[in-house]
Amino acid sequence: MPHAVLDSSEFVLEAPDAFRVNGRAYTSQAVFDLEQKRIFEKTWIYVAHESELQAPGDFKTAHLGSQPVIVVRDAAGAINVLSNRCAHRGVAVCRERAGHTRAFVCPYHSWSYDLTGKLTGIPGRDDAGGYAEGFQQPEGLFKLPSVANYRGFVFASASPDVVPIDVFLAGGAAQLIDRKLQQSPVGRIRLQGEPFIGVYQGNWKFQSENIVDGYHFMHTHRAFVSLQNKYGDTTGDFGVHKGGSTADMRRNRLSGNVLGSPYGHGINQKPAVGFDALFEGPYADYYARLTSRHGLEETQWIVGAGAACIFPNFGMIHNQLRVWRPLAPGLTEVTVFPYVLEDVPDSFNQGLMRSHERFYGPAGYGAADDVEVFAMAQQGLRASLDDWLIMERGMHAETRLDSGEIEGKPSSETVHRAFWRRWRDLMDHPDGGQP
Ligand SMILES: [Fe+2]
Repeated sequence: MPHAVLDSSEFVLEAPDAFRVNGRAYTSQAVFDLEQKRIFEKTWIYVAHESELQAPGDFKTAHLGSQPVIVVRDAAGAINVLSNRCAHRGVAVCRERAGHTRAFVCPYHSWSYDLTGKLTGIPGRDDAGGYAEGFQQPEGLFKLPSVANYRGFVFASASPDVVPIDVFLAGGAAQLIDRKLQQSPVGRIRLQGEPFIGVYQGNWKFQSENIVDGYHFMHTHRAFVSLQNKYGDTTGDFGVHKGGSTADMRRNRLSGNVLGSPYGHGINQKPAVGFDALFEGPYADYYARLTSRHGLEETQWIVGAGAACIFPNFGMIHNQLRVWRPLAPGLTEVTVFPYVLEDVPDSFNQGLMRSHERFYGPAGYGAADDVEVFAMAQQGLRASLDDWLIMERGMHAETRLDSGEIEGKPSSETVHRAFWRRWRDLMDHPDGGQP
């Protein structure tokens, strides 16, 4: 069925001094359906970290928007991304979130596939009631045409025409990933434990916006701020939300900058707070090692607080990778994968994990605030008589860089405008518009 044509000017209004987004962009089923085709099937989508797929036969399941896929390392060491759908009658051939296998066998009639997706067995193929001689046997599971690996981060696309991954991530996105990896002296991270999976009652784009929203912290997370004000930062050097008093925390939020990419990514980064004191602390050796390798100034950014929304639905913040999946216009699944650093003291990684749990874990003080706001936004947008949202904060105080990126102040909505410009371009172009 052909998709309805939508006019993106009904959803995004931009003028030199104004930027407005229509509330229906978050609530409309027609928008949601078109996003699946024009965004999730056209651009790069993050599907795995290499540390989840160490040996041949290691696999995990993932999604490109609504499309379920299996990500698997084959016997030759290559990573394949395959539709999780039997070629016979469409049944999902993989039921586990992640694991290790030699083959994928459909639970319905046991058609089997190897680790490259090739069909290797049809039970009773040549029975009297089986398939005739001229039977057009399918090759196997549908294999996604584009797979790329940026420093261990695996992306896939249903489109054969995507730009090279280095071009997609060029600028602040690649720099943020690099900096996160450089927190490890050997440049490697390892996912830790089982991911934490939750669902919220709001649109998926709220999460894309929020993970790099420098404006909301002191407001949405008021309870966390006052707890920390009262009891102090209990996670020492590991806290991404550092600082004792409310005034300190407010001041910290005003440091650093944000970057918006022509490919829709948003980056929000701050240099480390209390940097000099780190060289007096229990991990002085670690910080000295990083400094001798990267220099003083860059190390301050490497160990500072950095967050990214890699367009459209992958994020990095603190020591976690985050993926959010659209289920319906008002329903989204979020999966949080905490990670630890290779080649640092065990106690350092334990500190990172405790700090992570304190804010983002199932019993954390912070993440619940955001999802509550997402649900309240979805509720508020039902009041659609006055339907335009204001997204022009900091528009008068930003700089266009040679890279084509736009740099803004820490609490500016520069990152959100970058997201929506890219959203608008993709929604307007059935063949995946390039910026
Ligand atoms: Fe938040």
